[in-house]
Amino acid sequence: MTIETDSAEVRNAQRREQHHEADVVLVGAGVFGCAAAYALANQGRSVILLERWMHEPDRIVGELLQPGGLEALQKLGLGHCVEGIDAITCHGYHVVFHGKDVAIPYPVVDEKGKVYSGEAAKRVESSSANTKNGPKLRRPEGRSFHHGRFISQLRKACAGHPNITIFETTVTSVIRGSHSDQVLGVETLTTDRSTGEKNPDFFFGQLTLIADGYDSKFRKQLLPEGTAPVVRSKFYALELIDCPFPPSNYGHVVIGKTSPILLYQIGTHETRALIDVPHDLPAASSANGGVRGYIQNTVVPTLPESVRPSVLAALKDGKIPRSMPNSYLPASAKANTARTPGVLLLGDAYNMRHPLTGGGMTVAFSDVVLLASLLHPDRVPNLADAEAVEQAMKEFHWRRKAWTSIINTLAQALYSLFAADDWQLDALRKGCFAYFQMGGAKTDEPVALMGGLLHEPMVLARHFFTVAFVAIWLHWCERAGGSVLGGLLRAPLLVVDAVLILWRACVVFLPTIWREAV
Ligand SMILES: Cc1cc2nc3c(=O)[nH]c(=O)nc-3n(C[C@H](O)[C@H](O)[C@H](O)COP(=O)(O)OP(=O)(O)OC[C@H]3O[C@@H](n4cnc5c(N)ncnc54)[C@H](O)[C@@H]3O)c2cc1C
Ligand SMILES: *[C@@H]1O[C@H](CO)[C@@H](O)[C@H](O)[C@H]1NC(C)=O
Repeated sequence: MTIETDSAEVRNAQRREQHHEADVVLVGAGVFGCAAAYALANQGRSVILLERWMHEPDRIVGELLQPGGLEALQKLGLGHCVEGIDAITCHGYHVVFHGKDVAIPYPVVDEKGKVYSGEAAKRVESSSANTKNGPKLRRPEGRSFHHGRFISQLRKACAGHPNITIFETTVTSVIRGSHSDQVLGVETLTTDRSTGEKNPDFFFGQLTLIADGYDSKFRKQLLPEGTAPVVRSKFYALELIDCPFPPSNYGHVVIGKTSPILLYQIGTHETRALIDVPHDLPAASSANGGVRGYIQNTVVPTLPESVRPSVLAALKDGKIPRSMPNSYLPASAKANTARTPGVLLLGDAYNMRHPLTGGGMTVAFSDVVLLASLLHPDRVPNLADAEAVEQAMKEFHWRRKAWTSIINTLAQALYSLFAADDWQLDALRKGCFAYFQMGGAKTDEPVALMGGLLHEPMVLARHFFTVAFVAIWLHWCERAGGSVLGGLLRAPLLVVDAVLILWRACVVFLPTIWREAV
């Protein structure tokens, strides 16, 4: 480092600390905010990062990072943040359906996410792959961990960066210019540690980035009217202690009589259970003992026997488990364009999907990689240049669809199937599980899509509709009762059923992929 940049760094740090002025003001030191601050600071931008609560968060979100997200994190130079926090390696998914189960490991992929099944995959396992000229093959891994520990690591990385200053303060509003709509920064309330008093504070940046999470205070102001998250269910969380559930190092999804249940280890001794409870579920009504009654009477009997004692032990405290709403919020094409120059809305504040597939952080980190490349000083030397930023954001909106359309549609569609509440969805769910059981080349691509490794929406459509046909076939076999004659006699009815199943599949899939991809 030369003396000149050294002094520029020092001057910028002084401007941040004394005058609260920077190139970028970032609201929210969560998953998105920390990664974005770090990426932009690495490009030489001076960054102010604002967070209301700097103590280690204790939350039930963002605990399983898909391999695609881990790779994005590594690209940002933050891969070390999953080290030293007792993180657990994740090799794929394990689905349990009415007592039957199947493991779906993440497949072997090359640098571009192309999936290699069969022989090519075996070569990697015997480590004779990766010849000089051939594609670089690898079997990717995810990580699961305590969310708070991971966030603390991210914040530590930011705090140690010479181009970032973190302030503990609650952002209350954006500051607009007196002559234009241009956002100049934010107004905040900072608590005086000695008196406990809350004092107003002001922070100014050429560009303000808001990543204040699922319950964003700024979404209403910055998104077009009528864009609000849709919430169909909540996840209730338990922390299970020393809960054995083979295969280890897999994320487990239990489906069956209940809405889906997720189980994954977040530390050597801790396993997270997330129990989906749809709104107005009769089994969780107060007459049936509420959520605790639902867990005791319906969820526990559905779970594999080895898990039940830990769940009962976790319920012993007599409390209603902690919960979070499961939201869907498609990204708005109109957000982050000319409406309000000088400010961008990102992360969960901008786009959400059901957490069933654990895709949120993967979307966030992949978004940061793209955003940083589009706002790079070589392309946008001056972040106050609203036109240049708008151009970059238009490109951002389209280019991120390569992963968001897949991760978001998969999360919403699988949730509909796994929480089946009519016979067509139930048929599709059976078809889906049968498809998983076929394994190998059949499941390699879907799990690569889910892991944020493969970025081809058409591949998703192909697999989804294959599942629909498997479902129709199974339904046919079941209804025909195994006899040719039975099949022939019922044929007209079965054709109607087939149409209804296919129709249901379309209703689940097409509107979502349409919203996400167009
Ligand atoms: C039940 C559940 C489980 C999930 N599980 C997973 C999972 O396993 N894997 C996965 O990848 N994703 C998961 N997600 C999604 C994931 O948690 C989010 O996508 C991710 O946290 C979004 O990051 P963010 O930075 O936008 O928001 P957050 O991580 O929520 O960060 C927002 C930050 O802004 C701060 N803030 C808010 N308001 C203000 C203010 N006014 N002033 C200052 N600071 C403020 C907050 O304190 C917080 O630190 C889950 C979500 C839910 C609901
Ligand atoms: C910080 O910003 C300066 C420009 O002010 C840049 O030269 C330097 O490389 C940045 N530091 C790091 C660690 O990225």
